[in-house]
Amino acid sequence: MRESWASRAGFVLAAIGSAIGLGNIWRFSYLAHANGGGAFLIPYFIALFVTGISLLMVEFALGHKFKASAPMAMRQIGRKFEWVGWWAVLSAFIITTYYVVVIGWALVYFTKSFTLAWGADTKSYFFGNVLQLSDSPWAISGFAIEVLTAVVIIWLINWFVVFRGVKKGIEKANLIMMPLLWILAIILVIRAITLPGALDGLEWYLRPDFSKIGDYKIWIAAFGQIFFSLSLAMGIMIAYGSYLPEKSDIANNSFIVGLADSAFSFLIGFAVFGTLGYMAFATQTSVQEVVAGGVGLAFIVFPQALNLIPGLPQLVAAIFFLTLIVAGLSSSISLVESITSSLMDKFKLSRTKAVNTVFVLGFLGSLVFTTTAGIYWLDIIDHFINYYGLVLVALLEVVAVAWFFKLSSLKEHINAISDIKIGRWWDWALKYATVLVLAVLLLLDIWGNLQKPYEGYPIDALATGILVIIVGMLVSALLTLRRGKDVA
Ligand code: ALA
Repeated sequence: MRESWASRAGFVLAAIGSAIGLGNIWRFSYLAHANGGGAFLIPYFIALFVTGISLLMVEFALGHKFKASAPMAMRQIGRKFEWVGWWAVLSAFIITTYYVVVIGWALVYFTKSFTLAWGADTKSYFFGNVLQLSDSPWAISGFAIEVLTAVVIIWLINWFVVFRGVKKGIEKANLIMMPLLWILAIILVIRAITLPGALDGLEWYLRPDFSKIGDYKIWIAAFGQIFFSLSLAMGIMIAYGSYLPEKSDIANNSFIVGLADSAFSFLIGFAVFGTLGYMAFATQTSVQEVVAGGVGLAFIVFPQALNLIPGLPQLVAAIFFLTLIVAGLSSSISLVESITSSLMDKFKLSRTKAVNTVFVLGFLGSLVFTTTAGIYWLDIIDHFINYYGLVLVALLEVVAVAWFFKLSSLKEHINAISDIKIGRWWDWALKYATVLVLAVLLLLDIWGNLQKPYEGYPIDALATGILVIIVGMLVSALLTLRRGKDVA
């Protein structure tokens, strides 16, 4: 018997947990700021409604209709498409190996929050003390022990939750983590917007600059953010959909998940830019000078800002890093589940065997990112997997479903069980808009990579990154060719 969610709320919270992750906290607000402020919301919401939620419905429906995770669900569309399912799962695997390491950094910083151990020079602290960074990707001189220890803990938590199964593990964990995450975020927002200078920060975050709308780059940023943030093309939402009971409102749930994910991003932006506004105020600089995105925001700029917070900066710091940990864990658990359920479905492994396999291989994969050159490899692999994993998978997935399968049968499946009935716009959005956007994203990236080496890394390091991707694709092919148990 296939496992199932105990309640609709449990499923919705788990899917929201997967969607809300590190990306919402350090990526959305920075992207908005850099791409037209409030004006960024226009491409962002178009991306959300036209392709994001449409594809979310496809993934939930595939899992639900075929009662299978990504590879076996894609196989029902056509045998050759099983490979796309495996490549989604392998991409999820590769992402997990470094995603848990970033959560590990957050755990290290959480433990340091109580003494604000990073001191005044937060950059040296991050790269020197915590990462013990070497000069180049090939200069590996051992492990950053604190990071390694944190990664062991984060992997064990992932293993434990997924080992416990859908109801008792993933659902229960999210029933605790999601309310907690929103409470933590609201506390951070209230603290930030009541600081002097916060309003200036918010102005940098949201002041609309409509002249940027014509720039194709802001559209790419918006679509890229939506795909990553909604955990699409990672096999996750197909697996989560496969645990839905017969009568489940797929259309409505997709809207709830998509909107909750965006609402969280928008909300946490107030905490991020409110705090940066205060920092600029306290140091007599402008927000423009202190702003950063990604790793730099979370582990360099934010610790600087936290140093300056009046009252109990240690507490605010601990809450900030706990927010990152909770958001990260609820996503990494879903990544691990995507891989685990695929192994269970094809090879009829027990949950214990499947999750143990993912745990051991995943942990070994994570080791490289805990070395003194870890962050270089993280940056390189992350760049390539986002395009040649996620964007490519999403493109092939949509082409398979919209062009090689009766899309109308999937629509009928959704409409038969959903309150909101989806109309022709959905076919159009998938068949044309989504295919076009994904193809453009992919081509522009290939073109960009040919123009100049990514971030100026040595060619051999970039080639190794590409090699990882090629090996992942080949392993996907091998898994496709291997006979599963009871698979027709
Ligand atoms: N959706 C997850 C994130 O945004 C993977 O981090």
